[in-house]
Amino acid sequence: MSAEGDAKKRLAAQAALDYVVDGAVIGVGTGSTVNFFIEALIPYRNRVRAAVSSSNASTERLQAGGIPVLDLNEVEDLGVYVDGADEATRGLHLIKGGGAALTREKIVAAAAARFVCIADESKVVARLGTFPLPIEVIPMARSYVKRQLATHGGRAVWRQGVVTDNGNHILDVHGLTIDDPPAMESELNQIVGVVTVGLFARRPADVLILGTAQGIKVLPQK
Ligand code: 5RP
Repeated sequence: MSAEGDAKKRLAAQAALDYVVDGAVIGVGTGSTVNFFIEALIPYRNRVRAAVSSSNASTERLQAGGIPVLDLNEVEDLGVYVDGADEATRGLHLIKGGGAALTREKIVAAAAARFVCIADESKVVARLGTFPLPIEVIPMARSYVKRQLATHGGRAVWRQGVVTDNGNHILDVHGLTIDDPPAMESELNQIVGVVTVGLFARRPADVLILGTAQGIKVLPQK
């Protein structure tokens, strides 16, 4: 990513601090935009009680910055979850999983009352699917799932060398026509061996903060 792209990610990450609720536990996602958010949060770490993290990588960064990390099972009330995206529509449907953390991301997003997505403006698309759709699969089911995805019009490529925090594999699916993201999410979830589909449409973001050349843009617009 260019310096300009990073500056836009930083803008979005900084703006997400406004959604942090004093004294609460905050959900924290994964990726370079979230890394800027963690960096911005560290000076204000006393504002949050702790964090729930969507990956080992984010857990390490949070702990290194003096922010305690709790297991989601210990947290009953998760108000806000902040995470990035690989693609986002104006309707706040997302593709996620470029960093292979999609399963834990989807779990934390599901548990949170409010999902605040942060991204640079280049992530906004009219229709999802130019970014190959990441799908986490049980390793022994990889080839089977790949064949099943072909019947849905997708060309799945194994992300070789990547093992998720859950010990699974990732398929990146090219060429899908995603006209109805919630329907496709449900459909692909039914393939045996699929752990998680990187479509976040049945539980979309609630707020999308975009870093742009003109500053911050927040969707939905008030
Ligand atoms: C990780 C993700 C990330 O949120 C997504 O890949 C965006 O990453 P970045 O902020 O580095 O552009 O879904 O699994």
